Amino acid sequence: MKSDMKESGEASFTLNGKTVDLPVFKGVHGPDVVDIRKFYKETSAFTFDPGFTSTASCESKITFIDGDEGVLLYRGYPIEQLAEHSDFLEVAYLLLNGELPDRAEAERFDQSITLHTMVHEQLKNFYGGFRRDAHPMAIMVGVVGALSAFYHDSTDINDPKQRQIAIHRMIAKMPTIAAMAYKYSIGQAFVFPRNDLDYTSNFMRMCFAVQAEEYECNEVLCDALDKIFILHMDHEQNASTSTVRLAGSSGANPFACIAAGIASLWGPAHGGANEAALNMLEEIGTADRIPEFIARAKDKDDPFRLMGFGHRVYKNYDPRAKVMRKACHDVLDALGVREEPLLQVAMELEKIALEDEYFVSKKLYPNIDFYSGITLRALGFPTDMFTVLFALARTVGWIAQWREMIEDPNQKIGRPRQIYTGPSERDYVPINKRA
Ligand code: SDX
Repeated sequence: MKSDMKESGEASFTLNGKTVDLPVFKGVHGPDVVDIRKFYKETSAFTFDPGFTSTASCESKITFIDGDEGVLLYRGYPIEQLAEHSDFLEVAYLLLNGELPDRAEAERFDQSITLHTMVHEQLKNFYGGFRRDAHPMAIMVGVVGALSAFYHDSTDINDPKQRQIAIHRMIAKMPTIAAMAYKYSIGQAFVFPRNDLDYTSNFMRMCFAVQAEEYECNEVLCDALDKIFILHMDHEQNASTSTVRLAGSSGANPFACIAAGIASLWGPAHGGANEAALNMLEEIGTADRIPEFIARAKDKDDPFRLMGFGHRVYKNYDPRAKVMRKACHDVLDALGVREEPLLQVAMELEKIALEDEYFVSKKLYPNIDFYSGITLRALGFPTDMFTVLFALARTVGWIAQWREMIEDPNQKIGRPRQIYTGPSERDYVPINKRA
């Protein structure tokens, strides 16, 4: 990847009487960056930014978020337009290659993904080692990590051809592996992928078909899920994507890096929030209990957070939540469950939170996870599968960012430093001399 940062000035920094001039770079959108790569060498001090709230970890051309304006662009295209007009594999092609495909490119890409959807027969043995009640995300971390044991012919990260095969294998096999995790958890036989179905219909069929009868995809539901996958595909340098980049910076193979990303996404503060948001709505139960939970969310001594609200970057409405909200209503209308009690609680909670001074002052808006849980449950998925679906979609973003990192001439192994506040140097004391 060629760097397109443009030098736009200089920042001077003085520490202990020594001044260092640091170049400032401008991107296409978003804040400028102060290049501190020589900061430690010239000042003998580290910068300090736990949580990386003010730190750009890399240059990227894939996704841009404007948290104040509530903007999300994939390769420059607004997420709302892609969700409205595109489909999963076309957006996957866009994220990977930087441009929307022409018909021939789209056909070749779709064909390649379709022909990689099967998994090695022996991969099935990994499922049997799990208890049936294992959380599907535990299965995903294990099975995806195990892929690197099967595909030695695509783990040389320095060979572009092997990178391409690994990328297509990863995108193609995630739905099969995810559907198998679901089938295993409910004690049903695995369903093979079909080459005559599109990506998302294939996934829905692998989850909900049974050998005893034909399965017909409901077009409205498949379209809604395809839209949900597009919304979840990438999101700049979030926790799980940064995990994938850091793992990849050591030269680890892409399958192991994606497994690391899955592990990071599982956290309730991140991708686990859709599952946690639905569990929270079920715990609230009825609208009259909402004030009790709002009060808990405000209480600094209570670790409770209003799941599905707030975001590190969005200090405006998450643009994905708007699309998600509409998809949610479309699905519930299609299923004739518009009066879904949880939706009523969710709508009332959203209304109250958006008027409450605490949430308004802290700019805590509903995020994508707020409505996705209700929608996914209406589509027939159990709560513990929600983050698996998030991981399925985010695999495209992770693998696109992984490849961008590998191809970035500036990339080095990620190795942050620290400020040490432990014991000063001291000598060992034999046990018979200890107090
Ligand atoms: C995702 O990074 C990404 O891009 C993630 C993601 C993606 O696509 O990859 O968008 C997906 O992870 C969405 C977020 C899902 N998580 C949740 O819905 C869990 C609930 N949200 C919170 O845990 C929280 O909002 C975070 C973790 C999302 C953000 O945490 P931050 O960065 O600490 O939030 P902040 O600094 O903006 O918080 C400002 C204040 C703090 O209070 P003070 O210290 O200023 O007094 O708001 C408070 C926070 O304590 N706060 C909340 C809150 N979220 C933040 N208070 C109550 N309920 C909440 N949900």
